[in-house]
Amino acid sequence: MTASILVTRRPPGNALDILDAAGEVELWDVDAVMPRSELRRRVAKADALYCMLTDRIDADLLDSAPRLRVVSNMAVGLDNVDLRACTARGVVVGHTPGVLTGATADLAMTLLLAAARRIGEGIDHVRSGAWGDFRLDLLLGQEVHSSVVGVIGMGRIGTALARRAAGFGMSIIYSGPNRKPTVERELGAEYRDLATLLEMADHVVVTAPLTAATHHLVNEQSFVLMKPTATLVNVARGPLVDTDALVAALQNREIAAAALDVTDPEPLPADHPLLRLPNCTVIPHLGSATVKTRNAMAELAARNVALGLAGERMEACANPEVYG
Ligand code: DGY
Repeated sequence: MTASILVTRRPPGNALDILDAAGEVELWDVDAVMPRSELRRRVAKADALYCMLTDRIDADLLDSAPRLRVVSNMAVGLDNVDLRACTARGVVVGHTPGVLTGATADLAMTLLLAAARRIGEGIDHVRSGAWGDFRLDLLLGQEVHSSVVGVIGMGRIGTALARRAAGFGMSIIYSGPNRKPTVERELGAEYRDLATLLEMADHVVVTAPLTAATHHLVNEQSFVLMKPTATLVNVARGPLVDTDALVAALQNREIAAAALDVTDPEPLPADHPLLRLPNCTVIPHLGSATVKTRNAMAELAARNVALGLAGERMEACANPEVYG
């Protein structure tokens, strides 16, 4: 019998061709998140689910999907997928590590530079018509070269960001659950516990995955530890940072600036206090948003579906224990 593949958003590149060759595709061809009720109704008949980071794949959904064997998330992050519930039901889960590392690290470096050099405020200044004579004290920011970057989560993206930072002559410290000897050797990166990293870093970049253990990893106490001249960049997931604490820290100048690609909540409402703060730059989750990277993610996620349905090892599998 031909496998049924539910796709929750039209993917770019050749992904649909790959999926068409693997089974019968049911595409939610609406440019919006698939409503939960639709997802639940349609997944009931699906053998494979090709989903986005905006779809919540939990035990409740899996219980309404008796045929489901494959979940393929078109994202590297898996905080929207209950991996344990999938594994318990023998559902193999794919994701898209690697192909988005470079683009996301580029964006993290962009945000670090923007926060340190007050680029958002500079753009607002010019657009508002306030640009007058050259001033010696206009929008003075923080140094990037020869400063210390603190990377929270030295995984693929953290490492790629650290390489970029090394190119700017920055010293690198990092925290996380494990030491990374290869990064230490390659870049001279030094491991620090989180509190020490927050105290030492001129620029803190969050690249850790969101899990129960990392929720609000950066919180009110963190901002007390950070330098008043420090900047914070988040390209991971919004809930790693306590938003209310960040608003207070930026308002009270406990830190100099923040630049966020991800927020909590996401999307951020237009009247959110973060958007009224001149020292906060927010962009709408664009880490992997280049044509080439999004195509590569979409196609990798499609190949994961094809391999999963064929009972073969996915290229990028998050719960390989399902294969036994
Ligand atoms: C991911 O893949 O997890 C990013 O956040 C979106 O590309």
